[in-house]
Amino acid sequence: MSTVFQHSQRLLELPPYIFSEINAIKAEAQKRGVNLLSLAIGDPDQPTPTKIIEELKKAASDPQNHVYSPYEGTLQFKNAVSRWFKNRFGVTLNSENEVLALIGSKEGIAHFPLAFVNPGDKCLYPSPGYPIFSTAIQLAGGIPIAVPHRWENDFQPDLNELENLILVHQPKYLLLNFPCNPTSAVCTRKVMTDIVDLARKHRTILVADNAYSEMYYDVQDRPLSILEIPGAMDVAIEFHSFSKTFNMTGWRIAFAAGNPSLIAGLLRVKTNIDSGPLLAVQKAAEFALNNADELAEPIRNVYRERREIVLNGLRRSGIEYLQPRATFFVWAKVPGNESSMSFVKRLIAEQGLVLTPGIGFGQEGEGFFRMALTVPNQQLHEAIRRLELALKR
Ligand SMILES: Cc1ncc(COP(=O)(O)O)c(C=O)c1O
Repeated sequence: MSTVFQHSQRLLELPPYIFSEINAIKAEAQKRGVNLLSLAIGDPDQPTPTKIIEELKKAASDPQNHVYSPYEGTLQFKNAVSRWFKNRFGVTLNSENEVLALIGSKEGIAHFPLAFVNPGDKCLYPSPGYPIFSTAIQLAGGIPIAVPHRWENDFQPDLNELENLILVHQPKYLLLNFPCNPTSAVCTRKVMTDIVDLARKHRTILVADNAYSEMYYDVQDRPLSILEIPGAMDVAIEFHSFSKTFNMTGWRIAFAAGNPSLIAGLLRVKTNIDSGPLLAVQKAAEFALNNADELAEPIRNVYRERREIVLNGLRRSGIEYLQPRATFFVWAKVPGNESSMSFVKRLIAEQGLVLTPGIGFGQEGEGFFRMALTVPNQQLHEAIRRLELALKR
């Protein structure tokens, strides 16, 4: 019999995996022969655009791309990032020291605290939020402090509350995620400018997760880069990803851009852990960025259609939601006084419909649920039908 080894204290201290309860209910429903339909998956169902795959094939067959990448990514890849950044956000980056290739933005966000957080340091993260924001802080020995984002504020932080949290906790960094998973909220230029001013005033690092910057619905709502805000380069690092923009989640390619000392710290951690993304993947990603508009617009169109189906259904059912301006998520209120976990469990058991309970994204997510628009139209119609049936009971 194999020995069971005890996990490290840092792993034992991580919060329990809340979704295991849901997995058990799903398994039980499946056993009863229920046909499950999941809108809980944050992974695009559509393939990567063919032209990007063709670039990968070409690059993969060139032996020059079979060796280690430079730790920071190739200069060619980083130049493509700088060109795209200039076109898209009007921000000039120095490819040499203000851009860093990553093996997914999750990798960068998770390693970043190792570079800047000492044991016991506090860091602010958004709640509701992507769960690794807080666990990454914890894994580095830091103390995560939630910044509540609420319905009445369109899920943007309240600036007085934020400044108060900064004054009380003296955080090493403040993490922002706009457009947001799970709420889909975007941030106004005014709020972002105020946040940059706060960070500069209190010498707090700003970590901006912009993984959904290209997943917008209307051109006038195109999300900002924090680096567009004057003075942000003094304090900020921003994470971008190819995963959602180009349906490339499994390819593991992303980048960070921003303050050179923040980039250098993250790079130093990474040189001790990994050896950069596959060179052929960097080539294909470079092609994607050079042709971003042509490749990303058809993907956005798919979600535009899907969003309408779901929002029409929610309106018909009388369910309140935050109008999604970006991301492929819809964030809606649980009807009545039921907890988000009980509502989601009931939908699975009664209708075989799997949604994500807001509580899975932090305390401030309670009372909400998340729907991912990552299934075809027909399945979205079916999901709405099942939701309506559940509400009638
Ligand atoms: C808010 C947010 N940031 C970052 C990521 C990680 O993306 P990737 O590591 O694929 O770049 C995700 C993935 O779901 C996300 O939702």
